[in-house]
Amino acid sequence: MSADTTPGPGRFITLEGGEGAGKSTQARLLAERLRSLGHECVVTREPGGSPVAEALREVILSGVAAPLGPSAETVLFTAARIVHMAQTIMPALKRGAFVVCDRFTDSTRVYQGALGKVDAGLIDAMERIAVGAHRPALTLVLDLPAQTGLARAAARRADGAADRFEAEGLAYHEGLREGFLAIAKAEPGRCLIVDAAKGPEEVAASIWSAVQDRLGPIS
Ligand code: TYD
Repeated sequence: MSADTTPGPGRFITLEGGEGAGKSTQARLLAERLRSLGHECVVTREPGGSPVAEALREVILSGVAAPLGPSAETVLFTAARIVHMAQTIMPALKRGAFVVCDRFTDSTRVYQGALGKVDAGLIDAMERIAVGAHRPALTLVLDLPAQTGLARAAARRADGAADRFEAEGLAYHEGLREGFLAIAKAEPGRCLIVDAAKGPEEVAASIWSAVQDRLGPIS
């Protein structure tokens, strides 16, 4: 990234995990908590989070790019991430806002890297290009059994069709869980595993105490 993306005092928090882990609900609850204390908080998501990145999201999740293979999908996720960083995340951090992002680079490492078998060198290079030194201050890995997550995702969908990744089988989703847990264990300074099988209020309380613990008291 160019020099105009120097991080400001804001804090960058990401939520990661498999399908149906409750990331978007928890992103909303965390933001409400931060705002109630008078802090600006930008809630965003990947793929997406800025107009160009949302257009790329449509392309990726519709599955039309799937025949290109996981390496090309990695490039598309990275293109979306570059523009998301430049247009949404870095400006917010520079203003001193909190940024809470639903999925980020760990999703690429797990979906495209661990499960898609994309070369680790390519994944690392893409991460360097999109994120550089501006890695999240805290990554919350919302963990729950794959079967529970899939059932939740199906209930949420109601009549809507499963997207390209939701449509994979149980073994795939178990692999996702293992992938996120492996990252959390390898990077304990950045990541924290949160038991997401509990109710939303209980999960939100664990997240709030983790945020205070890791980022210092927030008042
Ligand atoms: P979304 O509907 O946001 O899923 P969820 O509610 O589970 O977060 O769709 C995002 C999908 O894209 C999800 O299946 C994970 C996948 N994904 C990747 O494969 N790689 C990535 O880098 C990112 C950010 C997401």
